[in-house]
Amino acid sequence: MDILVIGGGGREHAIVWALNKSKKAGRIYCAPGNAGIGQIAECVPIAVNEFDKLTAFAAEKKVGLVVVGPDDPLADGIVDAFEAKEIPVFGPRKNAAEIEGSKTFMKDLLRKYNIPTAAYEKFDSYEAALAYLNTQSAPIVIKADGLAAGKGVTVAHSMEEARQALKDIMVTKVFGESGAQVVIEQFLEGQEMSILSFVDGETVRAMPAAQDHKQVFDGDRGPNTGGMGTYSPLPHIDPAIIEHAIEHIIKPTAKAMVAEGRPFRGVLFAGLMIQPDGTPTTIEFNARFGDPETQVVLPRLKSDLLDIFLAAVNGTLGEVDIEWSPEAAVCVVLASGGYPASYPKGLPIAGLEQAASEKDAIVFHAGTALSSDGEFVTNGGRVLGVVGLGADIAEARTKAYEQAEGITFSGKQNRTDIAAKALV
Ligand code: AMP
Ligand code: GLY
Repeated sequence: MDILVIGGGGREHAIVWALNKSKKAGRIYCAPGNAGIGQIAECVPIAVNEFDKLTAFAAEKKVGLVVVGPDDPLADGIVDAFEAKEIPVFGPRKNAAEIEGSKTFMKDLLRKYNIPTAAYEKFDSYEAALAYLNTQSAPIVIKADGLAAGKGVTVAHSMEEARQALKDIMVTKVFGESGAQVVIEQFLEGQEMSILSFVDGETVRAMPAAQDHKQVFDGDRGPNTGGMGTYSPLPHIDPAIIEHAIEHIIKPTAKAMVAEGRPFRGVLFAGLMIQPDGTPTTIEFNARFGDPETQVVLPRLKSDLLDIFLAAVNGTLGEVDIEWSPEAAVCVVLASGGYPASYPKGLPIAGLEQAASEKDAIVFHAGTALSSDGEFVTNGGRVLGVVGLGADIAEARTKAYEQAEGITFSGKQNRTDIAAKALV
């Protein structure tokens, strides 16, 4: 069966890599892909928001399955566009992707169904939001309602910072229409964890938990990024906490979506906070695979990813075999100098071949391209995700850093403390 994967980051490289292992996979296309994806799939120069071109391409190539990676096209209804052409597609429809696309929708849903999440109020008027904010105290969290390329959340440690964030969102409108509404939310203390699940309606098949490192610098300092590194499993977290989150947060949320007439099909990604007393609560839901969570979760999948996608599309997700390897995976992101602010592109990358030949390492490309003379060059903020595999986190981490060191480009930056918390 031929497949079209939509997106071009590290997450999509991991999805294509896993699909490529399936005996049933025929030709794999990726739009737009990147230079690493191009080594194992056919990259198609169509952007993720060009729905007409993407559906026409899939119809012309008669692909048997489309898999959508990124959040923006999901929120804009790309799945509905493929379904209208009767092309099988793995991902949530627009009305289900709203669980990520609108924070007020997500918060109201959880409140209505008594699913644990931080206390909040929502506002569509700046004056009312400010008046409420002035009755609160820091730390407090200010969130733009809509998608904002991961920048719509401010965890304010002073009231001044909170008022500035509110003004930026609602008066200056730095996120445009995404800031027409805001959520003002209680600050949660604790340790974060990500649980991705394959979901089809009420059927939830959770993947192993992972942890991300969002801030750009060691020790969780500096501005937030898309994610600087991940690891899975989480040996320092009591499995009962993970189980609790699946039973009391993720399954009830899938059920609530069905009850609301918005059944979720795809990957439901729960961003959770493990509070100091050990109870998990919800920070956010995403309607897609995480990036770079996917890079440490899919290498641990022993079953056929294509079978799982097809089962979800056919409504038989409850029956499919999903087995995970007990081995550990650690992903260290190599980013361009300057990221998450502005950074140069087009810088040559050295050392990729050596890393690719290692048995217990995988290099997933995120922002890479091929230069006119066929060399790999940087082409984005997050350039590569270097994954190490091993019997435990310590072994996987050593492998990932060994390989990460051997890959160089001018201005390269990476965190040196990925998974350090898990060295128990
Ligand atoms: P989000 O875009 O919703 O994932 O939020 C980005 C990050 O902000 C999260 O991963 C958390 O680190 C942080 N965050 C969001 N909401 C809260 C909260 N209520 N309390 C503490 N931190 C939060
Ligand atoms: N790594 C966090 C995300 O994909 O949203």
